[in-house]
Amino acid sequence: MAKEFRVTPWEVRGNVDYDKLVRQFGTQHITAEQAREIEELAGQRSRFLDRKIFFSQRGLSEFIEAHRKGKRVALYTGRGPSGGTHLGHLMPYYFTKYLQDAFGCDVYYQLTDDEKYLFKDNLSREDTAKYSLENALDFLAAGFDPARTHVIINTKAANVLYPLALDVAKRVTYSTAKAVFGFDDSTNIGSIFFTAMQSAPAFLPTVLAREKNKKAPPVPVLIPCAIDQDPHFRVTRDVAEKLDYPKPSLIHAKFLPALKGGEKMSASDDSTSIYVTDTPKQVAKKVGGAFTGGQATVEEQRAKGGNPDVCSVCAYLSYFFEPDNEKLTERLDAYRRGELLDGENKAYLTDKINSFLKEHNERKEKARKTLEKTLLC
Ligand code: TYM
Repeated sequence: MAKEFRVTPWEVRGNVDYDKLVRQFGTQHITAEQAREIEELAGQRSRFLDRKIFFSQRGLSEFIEAHRKGKRVALYTGRGPSGGTHLGHLMPYYFTKYLQDAFGCDVYYQLTDDEKYLFKDNLSREDTAKYSLENALDFLAAGFDPARTHVIINTKAANVLYPLALDVAKRVTYSTAKAVFGFDDSTNIGSIFFTAMQSAPAFLPTVLAREKNKKAPPVPVLIPCAIDQDPHFRVTRDVAEKLDYPKPSLIHAKFLPALKGGEKMSASDDSTSIYVTDTPKQVAKKVGGAFTGGQATVEEQRAKGGNPDVCSVCAYLSYFFEPDNEKLTERLDAYRRGELLDGENKAYLTDKINSFLKEHNERKEKARKTLEKTLLC
């Protein structure tokens, strides 16, 4: 029997069965046609689409269609600033940058410093403020066009977000919040309200357009995120209809697994995730300790081969670090045949991650100059 798994915006547990999750959440798989359309608009392929790392969606065709008809559209994504940035967070960032190029549109990036303060006992408001700025730099380092990028720090941008959040909150009952998020009587009241703040940016592009021109048409929004964030946006989509805004569309990723196997990487367990601040030595050490699909001894692995399907080193290469499809297939096949050993595979991944991080961190340094300009308030 398959093991139980659980996916909520605050917890990912067990081995996620993504087909089952699509059915549970009521989303749809991304079709080959939708992926092709996006790649055509981008003028280049995306390994995230080709390999079905971004695999699920809501209302994606409507969003693509709106763009094709020449309507102004926008992207919206975010981060809960509870610590440094790990590679799992970067996946949606880099894919969002690809989408910004494909759709030539503005991107809104929300930092939910309120959320992390409310949900994490160990974080102060000073902590979440500090992480917000750090996380924003990692976002900008993915290469967004600063002129079309708007960073929203919830407690700073409250004057803009709060009226919209109120419109949402008035239309979401406590019973819905309990059913969607599993809250109970011990949940603090800020956490119960919070989802309204995460909904607000989905309507913000329309509101801002109408501040300039009362008759501006609504701005359809696409939200790239891993699928754990979907419950918030189910609520947003329901409320959108009541408020007469377009329902935001969604495009969902699978989770880059923890290096030690299985679940979504944890921002609180350092050794299972690679952070952008890790030194090359730390990266080598973490990859060295990763869970693999290898056998107990070299002889055995040569004889029986490894299993790339359960190997986190292979997963990191497939999800992110081996962009070349042919090279990836060759590597995984060689691993399966026992020709490629764990040590070699780990060394290869370590080099890939370290050169990626070097470039990412150089772009991050440059982003310090543009951050101020991108802050919404
Ligand atoms: P947070 O900080 O948990 O995560 C930020 C983004 O990273 C995704 N993510 C991952 N993707 C792939 N593999 C992983 N291992 C992994 N871990 C995290 C998350 O799904 C998310 O897309 N409440 C949100 C912040 C937020 C937001 C949004 C996110 C506000 N508005 C709109 C997405 C879209 C949060 O705490 O994300």
